[in-house]
Amino acid sequence: MTRRSVMIGTGSALPQRVVTNLELAQTVDTSDEWIVERSGIRQRYVAGEGETTSTLAISAARRALEAAGLEGKDIGLIVLATTTPDQTFPATATIVQDALGANGGIAFDVAAVCSGFLYGVGVADSMLRTGMATRALVIGAETMTRLLDWDDRATCVLFGDGAGAVVLEAREVEEDGPGVLATHLHADGAHNELLYVDGGPSTTQSVGHLRMKGREVFRHAVVNLADVLSSILTECGLSPADLDWVVPHQANQRILDATAKKLGLPPEKVVVTVDRHANTSAASVPLALDTAVRDGRIKQGDLIVLEAMGGGFTWGACLLRV
Ligand code: UT7
Repeated sequence: MTRRSVMIGTGSALPQRVVTNLELAQTVDTSDEWIVERSGIRQRYVAGEGETTSTLAISAARRALEAAGLEGKDIGLIVLATTTPDQTFPATATIVQDALGANGGIAFDVAAVCSGFLYGVGVADSMLRTGMATRALVIGAETMTRLLDWDDRATCVLFGDGAGAVVLEAREVEEDGPGVLATHLHADGAHNELLYVDGGPSTTQSVGHLRMKGREVFRHAVVNLADVLSSILTECGLSPADLDWVVPHQANQRILDATAKKLGLPPEKVVVTVDRHANTSAASVPLALDTAVRDGRIKQGDLIVLEAMGGGFTWGACLLRV
């Protein structure tokens, strides 16, 4: 028997308002054709008045708790991955903790941009396996549209808002049983100028706007994601053919296609939500995961891999049996 973090519930939440490419093209110098051809995005959800990172996170967390048959008081650890906290402090995780009635346990935010959820799972898994908590909520929640420069057509068409959450529980399981099998995380700060926000409390005392050199980020993403996926599979003595599903960060359909091709993964094993959700940063992996769990594609016993790459650069992968 071995102690593992087992996924026992998933949930997600999206803002009410959908903005299509056609709607965006009325105010931005772009077109539905360009956005679909270059990114695969057809629409995004945009947070409105009263919708914040914490309200989305709370809704996603409630759905994950409901799926797990638990209540907030059963959760001893909340790790919330976000680039767009409600406030500079307190950590948005503590706002979520209070709303769920999980007070008294551990709660903090993780900032690793689009890889934030992977970093959150890695941290929570370590804490669960070392006994610091028994049950954790790992949440990815973002209101990325609040960081966008709506005059920069190269970035403002690519992002959306949302949240996804998973409940992990520490359990003693058989070797071939469920749970997180491995997590590989990386960062390389040498490329910060390719993807960043041009503001912050300690520099401009403002929030700033997202800036990206898309073509260069694209190139790094395909290389880093293929590398981390192949290293995690090798470490676990597995090949791409052993996987039931790949749940990738949803930045660009062409990145999903190129990464799958590089690894020799059939495209039908890749969960795709970028067309509906656009790039929701730390929320994108748990949003896609919950979508595929709820529509019945991901089932108990499946071997799945989560992967992401984003600002920092940060990137990572997590292999788990459901
Ligand atoms: O989540 C974090 C990780 N982020 C990513 O993984 C994003 C990675 N990058 C990408 O997804 C792609 O590079 C983009 C979708 C951002 C851009 O696609 P691209 O094929 O790399 O296009 P590009 O940036 O090279 O731009 C091509 C052309 C340019 O015009 P010229 O110089 O060729 O005349 C741009 O000005 O497309 C133009 N362009 C647009 N045209 C219409 C840029 N944005 C737009 C737009 N609508 N929204």
